[in-house]
Amino acid sequence: MNVEQFKQDVLEGLSQHPQKTLPAKYFYDAKGDSLFIQIMAMPEYYLTNAEMDIFKNKSFELIVSLGMDKNKHYEIIELGAGDGTKTVELLKALVNQAYKFDYLPVDISPNVLNKLGDMMSSTIPGLNIKPKTGDYFNVLEQLKVDHIPKIVLFLGSNIGNLKDHEAQEFINHLSSSLKTGDKIVLGVDLIKSREKVLPAYNDAQGITREFNLNLLDRINRELGADFNRDQFEHAPCYKEEEGIAKSFLRSKKDQVVTVAGKSFHFDEGETIHTEISRKYNDEVLNKILSGSGLSVVGKIMDSESLFADYILECN
Ligand code: AVI
Repeated sequence: MNVEQFKQDVLEGLSQHPQKTLPAKYFYDAKGDSLFIQIMAMPEYYLTNAEMDIFKNKSFELIVSLGMDKNKHYEIIELGAGDGTKTVELLKALVNQAYKFDYLPVDISPNVLNKLGDMMSSTIPGLNIKPKTGDYFNVLEQLKVDHIPKIVLFLGSNIGNLKDHEAQEFINHLSSSLKTGDKIVLGVDLIKSREKVLPAYNDAQGITREFNLNLLDRINRELGADFNRDQFEHAPCYKEEEGIAKSFLRSKKDQVVTVAGKSFHFDEGETIHTEISRKYNDEVLNKILSGSGLSVVGKIMDSESLFADYILECN
């Protein structure tokens, strides 16, 4: 992590009017990573179980939608592989049905890839695993030179943390890194009621609150700031019409905070916008895909229709 870039992003975000912001990508320091693991296991965070249901119980449908041919050899590339608990279900099904493929998990953290590699090799002996450390698009560019058909996995509603125009840029970049016939499995959380979505971002145990406030601790520690975390509260919101869960940190009082020698004033009740978690439906996805050269060839949902893995094909 580049501290200068972190400082610049934080100072820029806190200088914004009328809405101060902080970039969500900075949630993930060691503490943030471990809090996110706890979030994924929370009863309110239905996303993980819903996508697991698809990978565990609908792997056959998934494989059919991918239109795989047993005579071809594939590269299955997972962007931001994480702990691989969902993917391992799909890979097991592919191995059992005698499909030929290499599995290429991509992550910026060699640590994550080592752990994942150990787990995968012990669960699926004989799996051809080729971990790639680095930036997603650099890795995809390197892989583009060959003619091996590719299946890219981008799971866990990770695209939901991007604004629509950023998601569009991401999708366009992804599409330009692939060849005709290549596929993408895109995991998205579906638009649904506030009663279901909001608790996932405002859990009873306060883990998501900690996750959000941890960003202030990180700024204090790494940028020499003096945020008093007790003077800010976690304030998430979600409107079904909009389909976007938003997280804020709200100042409990009128106060001044110093970050890297610069002072920022907060009115009582003023918020810092920290994260969006966009929920999808066919219409939102089609807007994002327009002009990308990708088309939807499949949509697999969990048994409660909470979450979808869309199968996209590169034209
Ligand atoms: C990583 N990402 C998909 C999570 C989400 O649901 O937007 C991050 C998260 N933020 C708060 N809870 C979970």
